[in-house]
Amino acid sequence: MTCQGLILTVVFVMLCRAEADTVIQKKVVEVGGNVTLSCLLMGSYDILQVTWQKTNTRENLATYSVSKGVTVAETYRGRLNFTRLSLNDTAITLWRVGIQDDGCYKCLFNTFPTGAIPQDTCFTVYEQLRGSLHYIISEGNLTATCSANAWPRPVISWIVPKAQSEKTEEVVTHPNGTLSVISKLYVNRSTSLAGQLLICRVRHMEKDRDYSVKVEDGWWFSVPWLLATAALLIVFVVLVLTVVCWRRRRKKQSESKAS
Ligand SMILES: *[C@@H]1O[C@H](CO)[C@@H](O)[C@H](O)[C@H]1NC(C)=O
Ligand SMILES: *[C@@H]1O[C@H](CO)[C@@H](O)[C@H](O)[C@H]1NC(C)=O
Ligand SMILES: *[C@@H]1O[C@H](CO)[C@@H](O)[C@H](O)[C@H]1NC(C)=O
Ligand SMILES: *[C@@H]1O[C@H](CO)[C@@H](O)[C@H](O)[C@H]1NC(C)=O
Ligand SMILES: *[C@@H]1O[C@H](CO)[C@@H](O)[C@H](O)[C@H]1NC(C)=O
Ligand SMILES: *[C@@H]1O[C@H](CO)[C@@H](O)[C@H](O)[C@H]1NC(C)=O
Repeated sequence: MTCQGLILTVVFVMLCRAEADTVIQKKVVEVGGNVTLSCLLMGSYDILQVTWQKTNTRENLATYSVSKGVTVAETYRGRLNFTRLSLNDTAITLWRVGIQDDGCYKCLFNTFPTGAIPQDTCFTVYEQLRGSLHYIISEGNLTATCSANAWPRPVISWIVPKAQSEKTEEVVTHPNGTLSVISKLYVNRSTSLAGQLLICRVRHMEKDRDYSVKVEDGWWFSVPWLLATAALLIVFVVLVLTVVCWRRRRKKQSESKAS
């Protein structure tokens, strides 16, 4: 093969690849929603049966043939069925999808004498993002907590004023498959943040959502300051009282002297 021929072949293969990728359907379904997957086999084939499989597990979900009719796997009964019943044009619907349903599915046209002709179709399940942001100040140190519950995994980043800070992140998987990402931000001597904005940016399904709080400039609420202020106040009151008493006494003394 000549060099040019080789390059042409490579380009051709790449074009075919790109074509194949675009042919695969990419649907997005919210948890609890319904999805319909379909396959069409063009051309004249003698199709005996269509079989739907989950690609990663190779488990048979449903089959249809003229002789045996429809069968649906035990674990899917009640929430999966054929919604287009034809050997060369088939569709199944999944109701009340869960996160475990996310992925790719294969329909196999069992033909004679060619054998099984597969097609792939995929969909992504998502759960809407629910997030929150709050902070507490204790001993003058700030701890801000941003949590994001969703599927697929949300990604948290912080936009905060320049200050020495530390971050920790924790991911919790709930029994229903959704994730909670909890990110904490620690800043010592939070007075430097008074009046400033803390922003927690959560990226989910290629979109950003910001949660923000303004740090109260309430430095006097911190315990040491409260104690110091109280002590000062007491000292001041005592001082005032002492002065008042002393002046009264002097007044009385001078009055008694004058009489
Ligand atoms: C899913 O299908 C059921 C039954 O057909 C229907 O009642 C429900 O509204 C559908 N849900 C959505 C989100 O389309
Ligand atoms: C599917 O099969 C039917 C009859 O079995 C035929 O009329 C139709 O043209 C076929 N469709 C395609 C896309 O090949
Ligand atoms: C499944 O679909 C077939 C064909 O459309 C229908 O005859 C059957 O009643 C459906 N089964 C259920 C459980 O809905
Ligand atoms: C805050 O102070 C604690 C205790 O001194 C220290 O361990 C921690 O690294 C400090 N954090 C920051 C962000 O400076
Ligand atoms: C999944 O579980 C989490 C935590 O228990 C809950 O907040 C969320 O609403 C659940 N999602 C669904 C779709 O049930
Ligand atoms: C608060 O920060 C100071 C340093 O500025 C540190 O010494 C102290 O241990 C911190 N307190 C807590 C509860 O982390």
